[in-house]
Amino acid sequence: MIGRSRAIVLAGLHGHVVDVEAHIGSSLPAFTIVGLPDASLTEARDRVRAAVASSGLSWPQRRITVNLSPASLPKRGSATDLAIAVAVLAAAGMIDPARAGAGAHLGELGLDGRVRPIAGVLPAVAAAVGAGMPSVTVPWANADEARLVPGAEVHPVASLAELARAYGSADAVASASEPVTSPPVPAMAESQADLSEVRGQGEARWALEVAAAGGHHLLMTGPPGAGKTMLACRLPSVLPPLADADAVAATSIHSLSGSLDVSGGLMRRAPFEAPHHSASAAAIVGGGSGLARPGAISRAHAGVLFLDEAPEFPARVLQTLRQPLESGEIVLHRASGATRYPARFQLVLAANPCPCGHFYGNGTRCTCSAIVRRRYFGRLSGPLLDRVDIQVDVHPVRRGADEPGESSAEVAARVARARERAGARLSSHGWSLNSQASGAWLRRHTPPRAVTPVWRALDTGVLSARGADRALRLAWTLADLREADEPGEDDVAQAMTLRSRGSAA
Ligand SMILES: Nc1ncnc2c1ncn2[C@@H]1O[C@H](COP(=O)(O)OP(=O)(O)OP(=O)(O)O)[C@@H](O)[C@H]1O
Ligand SMILES: [Mg+2]
Ligand SMILES: [Zn+2]
Repeated sequence: MIGRSRAIVLAGLHGHVVDVEAHIGSSLPAFTIVGLPDASLTEARDRVRAAVASSGLSWPQRRITVNLSPASLPKRGSATDLAIAVAVLAAAGMIDPARAGAGAHLGELGLDGRVRPIAGVLPAVAAAVGAGMPSVTVPWANADEARLVPGAEVHPVASLAELARAYGSADAVASASEPVTSPPVPAMAESQADLSEVRGQGEARWALEVAAAGGHHLLMTGPPGAGKTMLACRLPSVLPPLADADAVAATSIHSLSGSLDVSGGLMRRAPFEAPHHSASAAAIVGGGSGLARPGAISRAHAGVLFLDEAPEFPARVLQTLRQPLESGEIVLHRASGATRYPARFQLVLAANPCPCGHFYGNGTRCTCSAIVRRRYFGRLSGPLLDRVDIQVDVHPVRRGADEPGESSAEVAARVARARERAGARLSSHGWSLNSQASGAWLRRHTPPRAVTPVWRALDTGVLSARGADRALRLAWTLADLREADEPGEDDVAQAMTLRSRGSAA
């Protein structure tokens, strides 16, 4: 006899429907799963068998073969446990096969028969709905997340026994009654922080506003305690809410990495990720054994990736940022194939000017040698810094002397208006932010008169061709912020001062 059920398997953020078939033959007792299972799926065998026994049901003492198709799809993880168990029970005639075959079943099984939460419920349920299968059974702890998907008919289940009874088994008895819950997700750091708490720092605040308005990457350099970290953490507070597509992508990524706070619904606030420099490359970029999980750079998708004390990050990690900065996604290679995750983030780097942190002003307090200073900054490679449009110095605060600044809401309103102007101008090219505009577009559309300071700087070697493009890109954002239709000479001149740090490279 054959029992059927369906599961959803994720490849990156894309869910695929997997047909689960269980066949019960008459030969000696055995339990095999076929269809390209990896080690964790083999473990599924033991979990499924134990869960069925813990549900008061007798495991069929016959030859059971479970086939997961399509076989070509790499299947990892434990989310297919529930569908496998349902197919086996249907094949054994213990539950109604029609109920088992309707809709998708997602969940990991505990040995005690309880259904445990899984990662990535949101993209999996979205895939089921997209495949015309709106009825999905999900772990009790994932129900709220599954309900975020429009059009989903969500059936939460706490235990295999509960499901078996609902599907017509009179014998099923749950051995544990409390449903398994998910560990609480720590609230995002500094989510309530407001720009009004930052005193002084007019120049750095302005750089932050310009970065927000144009989506420009930003480097802040300055001595300890100047407020670099404070400023960076407040960037999301001036960014507009995420549009629908970005909100779904960001929520899916956080669902997959277990960092989603479901109580807020779809993520509408730009995410902010600040991995520590001692974190593993896998934690930052993504990866891990088996299923390649999204890292901080993907959790920062549609939001901000903040590398505090950037020169302390391993060169290898900084190098891997180049691909996502270029393409907006990261490809993680595994023996079983490549996994892609979106990773289009706004990069914010903070750095001390030198290892001791005091090389500013006349530099007399600095104890570092010139070589050490150069090597320290050299770690932020040319190709990486080349993509950072705004590079500003943050000066030490004079305690007490500086007034609190504008609130985030005031700045956010200007940012939103500037972004609207840029969007209207660039949307026909498929761009929404000035940071995305190509060099060719910039040179064609910037009024010739405004470009004069750039030519002058190019002629005297103060600026490279790439530096010139960056200045033009910034000039458009400055024009947008003052609600002008195009940049003038002043915008271009100011744009050039927004990158006071570093060489002309
Ligand atoms: N401009 C400022 N306005 C108000 N408070 C400030 C300001 N700058 C620094 N502070 C205070 O000093 C603390 C340290 O600031 P912050 O961590 O942002 O400095 P930093 O520039 O990142 O220093 P480091 O280089 O050591 O990381 C803040 O938590 C805040 O209390
Ligand atoms: Mg800091
Ligand atoms: Zn120093």
